[in-house]
Amino acid sequence: MIILGIETSCDETSIAFVKASGGLRAPRFSVLSNVVSSQVKLHAPYGGVMPLLAARQHGKNIGRVFKLACRYAGNNIKPNLIAVTRGPGLMPSLLVGVYFARSLSYFSNIPIIGVNHLEGHIYSNWLEQIGVKSKLKIPNSKHTSFPALALIVSGGHTELLLMKNHGSYTRIGETLDDAAGECFDKVARLLGLGYPGGPIIDTLAKTGNARAYIFPSPMIHAKNFDFSFSGLKTSMLYFLRDRKLIFSQTKLSSKRERMRADIAASFQRAVVRVLVFKTLAAAKQYKVKTILVGGGVAANSGLQNAFRIAHIDYPVIFPKRAYITDNAAMVAAAGYIAYASGRRDTWKTLEPDANAIIQEKAIRTELHK
Ligand code: KG4
Ligand code: ZN
Repeated sequence: MIILGIETSCDETSIAFVKASGGLRAPRFSVLSNVVSSQVKLHAPYGGVMPLLAARQHGKNIGRVFKLACRYAGNNIKPNLIAVTRGPGLMPSLLVGVYFARSLSYFSNIPIIGVNHLEGHIYSNWLEQIGVKSKLKIPNSKHTSFPALALIVSGGHTELLLMKNHGSYTRIGETLDDAAGECFDKVARLLGLGYPGGPIIDTLAKTGNARAYIFPSPMIHAKNFDFSFSGLKTSMLYFLRDRKLIFSQTKLSSKRERMRADIAASFQRAVVRVLVFKTLAAAKQYKVKTILVGGGVAANSGLQNAFRIAHIDYPVIFPKRAYITDNAAMVAAAGYIAYASGRRDTWKTLEPDANAIIQEKAIRTELHK
């Protein structure tokens, strides 16, 4: 079947057409088109996403993005299902995508399904992906190994989800405060770097010494799989304050520039350490056969390298670069899984939910029996 995916949860307006087959046993996807219109430049001067500005821009863009996605997929394209992100995300932004999808569904009489954005990030791994330490090229082959552990690291979320099968999730850990991507963005601001901070710190860290400074990896030894990143941001604040270091976006001396690269690399190391340590510990405890990584921070080269050199004998999968940050192809893929699992929505009743959580099939306590 052909799925029309729609994503407007934050600051990317995206529409995709994805061909899906294989059902829940062996889902396979091929992306016919995936158009992403980013608003990064619009929000950069504010150092973060402005919700109402984002929604207005989604409204302005969505028709054009839809038209392009149709054209790239072949103008006669006829979807069998409309999958739209219903949350989590910014309410004004979500409203644009959900109501656009509802109108399309009403006028064309095509079924509609609301998708959890994080499920989208998980299923970005099934689109086309690079395997890290993997003999498996694609987890959508017959060899998909469950249980799998999904590490979602984005601007708004940091979660560890155990998957016993397709569409079946149990949250075994999450951040108690800031998300990993949010921490990258806030620290980038403290270091006088631009927005979004993650990719800039990643690039800068490549030129720095990651062992120059020690930053804490919060909760690394806690006896659970939860995370916390706000303390790390605070320790960066104190680190800079104690040394009277003020970094601005203006040109720095080469000594200062080197120092900033060392700080960025050391900070990134602290984040990566805790993410990898906890993920591998959870993988061991739940005896998983595959690790899937998703969300914007999955693009981080330090994170990818750390998993690459980990002493494990099962695959760690990252999405292909084009599907790592927010896009509608991943929403279409997750929509297919939801639909194949029997979930249904209607154009009349589907509403956005800014705080949507992934529907868990099992409950946490069951796992500990
Ligand atoms: O998944 P995403 O595109 O949007 C959300 O759902 O939040 O993730 C965006 C986040 C931002 O915080 C951004 O700084 C971070 O992902 N990010 C990175 C990298 N690329 C994007 N963080 C670290 N390293 C990167 N290379
Ligand atoms: Zn996202």
